[in-house]
Amino acid sequence: MSPTPEAFRAEFPVAQEWAYLNHAAIGPFPQRTVRALKEFVDLFADTPAYLRSEREDTAQTAAHYVAELAGARPEMVAFVPSLADGMNLFANGIDWRDGDNVLIPVEEFPSVVYPFLNLGYKGVTVRFVEKDAHGRTDPARIAAAIDDRTRAVALSHVEFMDGYRNDLKQLADICRPRGIEVFVDATQSLGALPVEVARSGVSGIAAHGYKWLMSSFGIGVVVLGEDALERIRPTYAGRLSVDVGYEDLNYRMQWKPGAERFHTGGLNTLGLTAMAASLSLVTEAGPAWTAQHTAHLTDRLIEGLDALGYTVASSRAPEHRSQIVAFTAGSREQDAQLVDDLERANVSVTLRGRGVRVSPYFYNTVDDIEKLLEALPPR
Ligand SMILES: Cc1ncc(COP(=O)(O)O)c(C=O)c1O
Repeated sequence: MSPTPEAFRAEFPVAQEWAYLNHAAIGPFPQRTVRALKEFVDLFADTPAYLRSEREDTAQTAAHYVAELAGARPEMVAFVPSLADGMNLFANGIDWRDGDNVLIPVEEFPSVVYPFLNLGYKGVTVRFVEKDAHGRTDPARIAAAIDDRTRAVALSHVEFMDGYRNDLKQLADICRPRGIEVFVDATQSLGALPVEVARSGVSGIAAHGYKWLMSSFGIGVVVLGEDALERIRPTYAGRLSVDVGYEDLNYRMQWKPGAERFHTGGLNTLGLTAMAASLSLVTEAGPAWTAQHTAHLTDRLIEGLDALGYTVASSRAPEHRSQIVAFTAGSREQDAQLVDDLERANVSVTLRGRGVRVSPYFYNTVDDIEKLLEALPPR
């Protein structure tokens, strides 16, 4: 049976008062996550009971869900504190030579850019690739910018300002046959849209968990492509990186066979508890259904914005649309005013570079969109 947004709504008390259309900023905890965290916190206050307890391996549970969302095997999943940490894992993991370069589209999210700028001391340069005439990321321009020292391309799957969705397979098809890595920020897509790591052929994706994965701050994921472990080397090592018990003091430098080798010391158990619980719901909705559902919501949104006379800043090309839509009244001041007006009408959205950013999820309804449209003055 197909899911319905109403069936999920009881998990989100915030939805009773708010049209919460701001998941590109922060995803709220579902009630099942609140319960799982309370249980964990109570148990951790009673450490003898904690030590005795038969605990779920939340890392393993979360890795299974992440793999399902990312079209990959659980063995290719590792946990990191943030998207920035995931990008650093990629940026520092390959054997750069003095004079190499990495291509990044202009206006990328800062945490995609700085890990590579930080390689300047190794003689690595970041080359920014301009957008096309419509201000969109253009694979043809990326292909044209490749030279014989290009080692990697880094970019977002779904872009944070207007939700533009890049075609990962197309990029991997351009880059991988030339030995160029494709490192992807999937913070704005994983959970909300199908992300096919293995099928697309990218080197790896990384995502922070506090948005579409509904896991709060300080817990993120890396998912590696099938052959990437051969080329990406852990920068950091610790007791969890190696396939040796940590009471074995012979210190054999023997990496774990899968992506777990990127773990170092004790993991963020609170974050993983939240992630395992939240992803049980995110996978219940499932990215395929969620994408279809949010497309239905954003269709109505775009239709309403057109009728009211606002400019939709996001791409309307079906292959580049996502669950995120940005629109503008014409100036930043006017857009800031709209965000304030919407807030007063209990509609939560965010102001970003392209205007007002609206980002619905699986439990939002057409009524939430109508509430937003009703709060907007006609132009
Ligand atoms: C595209 C994108 N990537 C990453 C992040 C978060 O980055 P970090 O994990 O470095 O805080 C955000 C947050 O807005 C984002 O929009």
